[in-house]
Amino acid sequence: MKTEILEIDESSLALSKRIIESGGVVAMPTETVYGLGANAFDSAAVERIFEIKGRPNDNPLIVHVHKDYDISTLVEDVPEYAKLLAKAFLPGPLTMVYKSKGTVSKAVSCGLDTLAIRVPSHEGAQRFLKFVNLPIAAPSANVSKHVSPTTAEHVYSDLNGKIELILDGGKSEGGIESTVLDCTGDIPVILRSGLITREMIAQVVGECGEYVYKDGMRAISPGMKYKHYSPNCRTVLFNFDELDKAVKLYREETSRGVKVYLLCDDKTVQEAKVENVLNLGKDENEIASNLYLKLREGEKVADLIIAVAPEKQDGVMVGVMNRLSKACR
Ligand code: TXA
Ligand code: MG
Repeated sequence: MKTEILEIDESSLALSKRIIESGGVVAMPTETVYGLGANAFDSAAVERIFEIKGRPNDNPLIVHVHKDYDISTLVEDVPEYAKLLAKAFLPGPLTMVYKSKGTVSKAVSCGLDTLAIRVPSHEGAQRFLKFVNLPIAAPSANVSKHVSPTTAEHVYSDLNGKIELILDGGKSEGGIESTVLDCTGDIPVILRSGLITREMIAQVVGECGEYVYKDGMRAISPGMKYKHYSPNCRTVLFNFDELDKAVKLYREETSRGVKVYLLCDDKTVQEAKVENVLNLGKDENEIASNLYLKLREGEKVADLIIAVAPEKQDGVMVGVMNRLSKACR
């Protein structure tokens, strides 16, 4: 199968609609990462997503809808706090989990009685979702376990030959996946952290819990138990106060002929004074935006990526550290 990368216009949207309506999959841009979408009502199409990605079949998918889509056809029991949060943050990088009405294919939620809904803010995503006017089940458009894609080229390098069409909407500026929020209880609970932080949610509705997954526990959000975001080279992660150790390892490995790159924020780049760096940038949003981009850049040139965590660990950095520690496991 030939994989085409097309800018988003009337003709590529018409093609994407034909593909989706005939049970195929289309890669689409979002403001977080690129997604691999299929018609959520079509079980065979949804199952193709799992096949193409090599995704474990107990890891449920998020359903994406345009901003005017009536989600009451898909879910029930939308609590008051969820309405407030939707008003504050949607369209945007916040996925909300509700009790499912069971109208979409069972394959989407892998047998759970809940459904995750996302309204992306990316203009190209909105145009695509509006054009097909269907709920689109979509995980990130990478091969399972690999680093998530933030450009059309990233999707191409993972899925070339396996899908027909990649809609090109430029770089995903957010850079890490949406915050996943359980809205089935009395208060919202974060299942996966992201750009909409616990503090931001609590500011709107007063309270917000956070689910911490530990190995062996039953996972409410099954995605949390899997290896993830891993570049195709060796990786190690040091704390921000272990720069000396990181630089020592960098020098030892380099002197043995290993191609080593240091992945860290701009401040640490200045202190480290080593030659090969993958600079994540300055503030938390810039670091999130560059994380996957730099991991993918790194795996092309490095045998070993030595990551050093930024000093700041709250806010958006909670989500960044979650990905970075899984990438370096
Ligand atoms: O930003 C994003 O969320 C991107 C873009 C493409 O929208 N999508 C994404 O999808 O990251 P994926 O499949 O890579 O991650 C979906 C996460 C997983 O951790 C999964 O376990 C969780 O959402 N999830 C999906 N449905 C769920 C449900 N019903 N209950 C709990 N967690 C759910
Ligand atoms: Mg993913």
